[in-house]
Order: sequence, then C-alpha cells, then structure tokens
Amino acid sequence: MSVNFKSNFVRAAAAALLLFSLPAAAADGSEAAAPAEPTPPLVPHTTADHKITRDRNDCLTCHQPPANEMAGAKAVSDSHYVHRNGERLDKILPTRGFCTQCHTPAPDAKPLPGGKS
Ligand code: HEC
Ligand code: HEC
Repeated sequence: MSVNFKSNFVRAAAAALLLFSLPAAAADGSEAAAPAEPTPPLVPHTTADHKITRDRNDCLTCHQPPANEMAGAKAVSDSHYVHRNGERLDKILPTRGFCTQCHTPAPDAKPLPGGKS
C-alpha cells in the first residue's frame, strides 16, 4: 500500500516536473505551455511497446481520429492541436508529439489486449 502510494507520488511529481520544464524545452519558444495547464491523464496500458520517433508515432495509430473509433480509444483532445495564439493546426503540435513526456503509464498499467504495438 505505502509502496504503491510512493510510486504514484513519484510519477505524479515527475509528470509535473516535465510539464513545467516544457516551456524551456521549446526550441523556438513558440509553444510555451499555458501556466494553468491541467494534469495529463495517466495511461492505463503499458507504453514500452509503442514507439515514438521523429517519423513514427504508434500512439496516434489508436488515439488520432478517425482511427481512434476502431481502436476504442479516446481521441487526442483539441488542446493538442491548438497553438497558444488560438490557431487550430491540422497536425498535432510539435510540443505534443512526444506523448510519453506528459502521459506516463499508471502504476498498475497492463499491456493492451492483442499484444501488438
Ligand atoms: C493499440 C491501440 C493503442 C495504442 C497503440 C495506444 N493506446 Fe492509449 N489507449 C488505448 C485504449 C483502448 C485505451 C482505453 C480507452 C481510453 O481511455 O482511451 C487507452 C487509454 C489511453 C489514455 C487514457 C485516456 C484517459 O483520458 O483516461 C492515455 C493518456 C493513452 N492511452 C495514451 C497513450 C499513449 C501515450 C500511447 C503511446 C505511447 C498510446 N496510448 C498508445 C489504445 C491504445
Ligand atoms: C505537453 C503535455 C502533453 C503531451 C506532449 C501530450 N499530451 Fe495528451 N493530454 C495532456 C493534458 C494536460 C491532457 C488533459 C487536458 C486536455 O485534454 O487538454 C491530455 C489529454 C489527453 C487524452 C484524453 C483526452 C480526453 O478526451 O479525455 C488523450 C487520449 C491524450 N491526451 C493522448 C495524447 C497522445 C496520444 C499524445 C501524443 C501524440 C499526447 N496526448 C501528448 C498533455 C499532453
């Protein structure tokens, strides 16, 4: 119980730190996170099998509309497309591309059924 609480707390703290460090990490300074950014939901499934590189993002094969409907997964929310100047882009913002920077697996995360990434 206490171990579980501790690892929960560590994950939450790590996620918060990442969130606050993101504005500094934006290379061109164009996409600083809003100060009152909400907490990203934890991932209920494991993520190690899902690759994210510059050219490939496995997360989007299930979480980007319209594919998300087939996968039974929530669509990436609007905030992931809307530039801080209010403009809605066609593609997910560069600062939202590396999903696992913000979305960490829950402590009890299980692999998705099917076992493929
Ligand atoms: C094979 C399909 C698939 C892939 C690939 C996948 N997910 Fe998921 N994901 C799901 C399903 C199904 C759920 C459970 C339904 C839901 O909450 O969307 C889920 C849930 C989530 C949630 C919880 C959403 C919420 O509001 O509670 C997050 C966050 C998430 N996934 C992030 C990711 C990230 C990050 C990756 C890549 C590392 C990823 N997913 C890859 C299918 C997938
Ligand atoms: C900079 C941090 C950040 C990054 C990077 C990020 N997200 Fe999120 N995400 C959030 C936050 C905060 C929320 C909750 C508030 C919201 O929906 O904007 C969220 C919400 C979600 C949800 C739940 C949507 C809902 O309707 O409840 C899903 C699914 C999701 N993100 C998937 C992804 C995927 C897939 C990626 C990578 C392509 C990604 N996110 C990248 C911060 C992030």
